[in-house]
Amino acid sequence: MASAGSDNAPAQVPATAFDNALDTALELALGQLAANVRRFTECFPDDTTTGNHYTLRQFDGHPPGVNAGWTSGFWTGMLWTAYELTGATAFRQAAASQLPSFAWRLAKRVQIDHHDLGFLYTLSAIAAWRITGDPEARRIALQAADCLMQRYLPGAGIIQAWGDLDDPAQRGRIIIDCLMNLPLLHWASAQSGDNRYRDAALSHARQSRKYLVRPDHSSFHTYHFDPVSGEALGGSTAQGASDDSCWARGQAWGIYGFALNHRHAPDLGLLDIACAQADYFLARLPEHGIACWDLAYGDGSGEPWDSSASAIAACGLLEICGQLPDGEARARYQAAALHLLGSLARRCAARQPGSDALLLHGVYSKPHGQGIDEANLWGDFFYLEGLARVTRGWTSYW
Ligand code: GLY
Repeated sequence: MASAGSDNAPAQVPATAFDNALDTALELALGQLAANVRRFTECFPDDTTTGNHYTLRQFDGHPPGVNAGWTSGFWTGMLWTAYELTGATAFRQAAASQLPSFAWRLAKRVQIDHHDLGFLYTLSAIAAWRITGDPEARRIALQAADCLMQRYLPGAGIIQAWGDLDDPAQRGRIIIDCLMNLPLLHWASAQSGDNRYRDAALSHARQSRKYLVRPDHSSFHTYHFDPVSGEALGGSTAQGASDDSCWARGQAWGIYGFALNHRHAPDLGLLDIACAQADYFLARLPEHGIACWDLAYGDGSGEPWDSSASAIAACGLLEICGQLPDGEARARYQAAALHLLGSLARRCAARQPGSDALLLHGVYSKPHGQGIDEANLWGDFFYLEGLARVTRGWTSYW
């Protein structure tokens, strides 16, 4: 059995010269978190801000601040990260105090009928296990991996993204975001010695590469399969501008997700796909590097930015750099990551009293009218992760 912190050490970002502004940005972000941890402690903020301020999460008559939805792990993950960067016990205590609520969700099946168990449990239970060695955290993470495995449809070789497994509208649908959930399965295989988790992750990654990535290396947000025969039925969007457009955050999930999966399966060519998706993303960014919510739009379109897409892409670029040999391509992606982070720090960094978030100007879902030009927990998390990786050589939990 692998011990805490020893399995599949994440790639290190190569040492680099970075602007001191990123150090200042990290200090500002940590200051925002220090204020928030006093306010929220073991409770959970909502997915996105309202008027750039977080409110307590609400769900189904539970007390405000309940652990629900797909984004609560980003809050816990930021607290673990802040603890590792500062050594401040308030962060550690708050992060550890949230662990029982993650166990409760699995036991009571509170909003776990989706594939985002990787987002939820990598940043909470696996982070706790790596940092503290708490065996309960390891048990919870393995249970989450088992739950995710229940969504694996062997006929199609995929993990169903959303909804009940019997729901005809959702059955057999994958989404590009799921690449970020697969590291939970690789971790579970390494911990348990059971290759079923890894085999499912590899199959899903192959199907994602084959069907979610278009010939020009843009991506479909979602793709549908016949769950029994595995027949490929076609792509569609839920959060992008159209089925054929390229949702900016989806492309960013692809960049980071394929790069992360390459760590576990270096023979599948996934790093090449991550690079090609990065090239597509970078070529369609405005000069300042903050993506509009769909890559069909650029500056002058009047469409809102999704800062979280650029933050995720920056982390993906850093992950690519950690796995590429020294050379022109690595230098190029590293420069791009620094450009994105620098621009996010200059244009989107939040500060009290205007906002209690870390990163302004995100979009949750434009077609659904959700969280438009607001901060969100995942944007905050990946901005913090990017800054920590670049300025402190910090290694991520994925
Ligand atoms: N994973 C869901 C989203 O990016 O909105």
